[in-house]
Amino acid sequence: MHLKFTGKTAIVTGGASGIGLAISKALAGAGADAWIFDLPSEKLAEIASSSGARACFADVTNRESLEAAFAQAPDPDVVVINAGIASASRLDQTSAEIWNRTIAVNLTGAFHTLQIAADRMKPLRKGAIVMTASTNSYDGEPDLIAYNASKAGLLGLLHTAANELGPYGIRVNAVCPGLIRTRLTEPQFARPEHLSTYFSEIPLGRGGEPEEVANTVLFLASDLASYITGATLFVDGGQMCSKFGTWKSEDAVFERDHWKQKT
Ligand SMILES: NC(=O)c1ccc[n+]([C@@H]2O[C@H](COP(=O)([O-])OP(=O)(O)OC[C@H]3O[C@@H](n4cnc5c(N)ncnc54)[C@H](O)[C@@H]3O)[C@@H](O)[C@H]2O)c1
Repeated sequence: MHLKFTGKTAIVTGGASGIGLAISKALAGAGADAWIFDLPSEKLAEIASSSGARACFADVTNRESLEAAFAQAPDPDVVVINAGIASASRLDQTSAEIWNRTIAVNLTGAFHTLQIAADRMKPLRKGAIVMTASTNSYDGEPDLIAYNASKAGLLGLLHTAANELGPYGIRVNAVCPGLIRTRLTEPQFARPEHLSTYFSEIPLGRGGEPEEVANTVLFLASDLASYITGATLFVDGGQMCSKFGTWKSEDAVFERDHWKQKT
């Protein structure tokens, strides 16, 4: 058995950028008929064709728009619930607008996608759904109250859906990325002094690349993960197991966004 998706249809929400784009490319590269569902933009068709995927406009906060997109694609074997946004703001400065928008995209959008995907997969008695959750589904990070709540909420969707869909042969899993280099995290990657502190607490000493998350999603979506459902897999360089930090400047140097041991 291999990471092959030949003859399978795969849909990726938020597939036009960052982690979603890497997932779409990886699925298309592994033989899937890959579909990117993302917000309307002039570049969407171009992005999709250059990654070997097809494009469809869809706003995950809008049920009708999402249903129309699903109606254009064949019955999906794989659905990756990945569309997400984040706005940094302190608890006392988080407006109802930021809260509502973040929950609408990251959590309610995931619910709509999950529900439509399940409806399409149930008659087939098979399917794999993978969500992009986060390390923030589990721990706290200041200034991200709405984001963290939305990502914690995904675990509720995950666990419930795994229970309800298992009898239909549908597996539901999640990846929990740490800090991954994308448009969303550009501001953090633009501050080396911030990264050196942040990454000193990550055993692998660096941030992640979108392709490293994509590889994990492909595994969970593939038949290699045939007995895995309701699971979360951290793609975080070990961040979640690091209680007291890993790297110290006495015996390591931080170069090019990466901690390395002094020789
Ligand atoms: N980058 C990280 O460090 C990191 C860490 C953990 C989790 N994540 C999660 O990974 C996912 C992808 O994030 P990314 O870092 O690749 O960011 P990104 O901004 O590069 O990509 C997000 C994509 O979602 C799309 N999107 C936003 N709102 C949408 C909507 N309403 N309908 C449809 N599509 C919509 C955007 O157009 C974009 O293509 C998000 O769910 C994010 O929370 C990212």
